[in-house]
Amino acid sequence: MEENGSGSTLPIRQMRMVIVGHVDHGKSTLVGRLMSDTGSLPDGKLDFIKEICERQGKAFEFAFLLDALEEEQDQGITIDTSQIYFKTDKRRYVIIDAPGHKEFLKNMVTGAADAESALLLIDAYEGVQEQSRRHGYILKLLGLTQVAVVINKMDLVGYDPEVYFKIKSEYTEFLNTIGVEAKDFIPVSAKNGVNIAKREDEMPWYKGPTVLEMLDLFEEKSMPNHLPFRFPIQDVYKFDERRILAGRVESGRVKVGDKLVFSPSNKKGVIKNIEAWSVPKIPTDAEAGQSIGFSLTEQIFVERGEVASLVDEVPIVTTMFDANIFWMGKRHLEKGRKYTLKLNTQEIPCEVAEFKKVINASTLETLTDQDFLAKNDVAELTLRTHYPVVFDLFGSIPTSARNLSSLFIAS
Ligand code: GTP
Ligand code: MG
Repeated sequence: MEENGSGSTLPIRQMRMVIVGHVDHGKSTLVGRLMSDTGSLPDGKLDFIKEICERQGKAFEFAFLLDALEEEQDQGITIDTSQIYFKTDKRRYVIIDAPGHKEFLKNMVTGAADAESALLLIDAYEGVQEQSRRHGYILKLLGLTQVAVVINKMDLVGYDPEVYFKIKSEYTEFLNTIGVEAKDFIPVSAKNGVNIAKREDEMPWYKGPTVLEMLDLFEEKSMPNHLPFRFPIQDVYKFDERRILAGRVESGRVKVGDKLVFSPSNKKGVIKNIEAWSVPKIPTDAEAGQSIGFSLTEQIFVERGEVASLVDEVPIVTTMFDANIFWMGKRHLEKGRKYTLKLNTQEIPCEVAEFKKVINASTLETLTDQDFLAKNDVAELTLRTHYPVVFDLFGSIPTSARNLSSLFIAS
């Protein structure tokens, strides 16, 4: 959260965009190139890295601008995500460069989890690979459907339009099966800087946007102010006689005097004061994205994990529900074992009641009689929790539903 100069605690708007795709398909190179070609690197950084490469006797890679860890440079792969701040005339961006290696899938998911848009890279020479499909599927599970596909390394195939159209048609077919429509397919050479920030002469047959133009074509998600009010309690602080309930407004808005209900306890209370930190004026209302605290006119006992809403717009409270799960645990997800479900500030013991369908997230092969879920696969299943859990359906309020795909810890 940044203070945005107007005395409000609302975050400054910037688009979070993640770059995903199979290992070595050129994600870090593309980001390095984009920074370099738009003059966004700090003064002297490019020369500094080139000098180090020369001293160490290795060829310069644009990816080194991102992969700063020694281990990453030695192996030529990205291990952890890095975040790059970038600006166009239109707006500011946080670009998240995710790793493509299967072993670091968890870092990819973390990087993509709260992004609003994504570029998915496919190497023109290697074509669609395992993680090209799996990453596409994960984006869909995370509710991130604002995706453009970049077909990189066109220099390796002589900028041949046939290669481009073949990959475009193959990957479009895959995206169709999971219900995603790409905004565009952009043929580029990240290494040579073709169609990244500048249009060069190599591919006159391509009339679409460059990568840089694509960024500005992505649509900003509006703050979910118009949705029902949801406030998962993070902590309860006691000052004198007052109890202050602290957390982040995930959606909707409230004002002093509003009547709240807390789920799952079903206790009710009326907002007396809204407290905010480091602002000149005490606010009388709050909206999505703000971290606030408030006190109630009467003291009631509620704890971290409960979710506040307005009385006529309550969330779902249940102990049994269906979910799509992407499993990242080493050990299979199985029936009969206890897991912890984490959703916003809730942590609840749970178990699998039924596996409905298990899907290989790369081939989309479906198994209906398998009752375990292996690492990196997806399942539609029914979960039973030991206490009531509070959530909304993905289609209605994404923020209190979206993390359902990555919320397990085995215990
Ligand atoms: P991970 O993060 O490990 O998944 O890899 P990555 O997708 O970030 O790939 P990276 O940018 O590290 O590039 C991998 C290799 O591909 C490097 O040797 C790059 O120089 C090379 N490469 C990237 N883009 C291009 C391109 O447009 N053309 C050619 N010929 N090589 C490229
Ligand atoms: Mg990389």
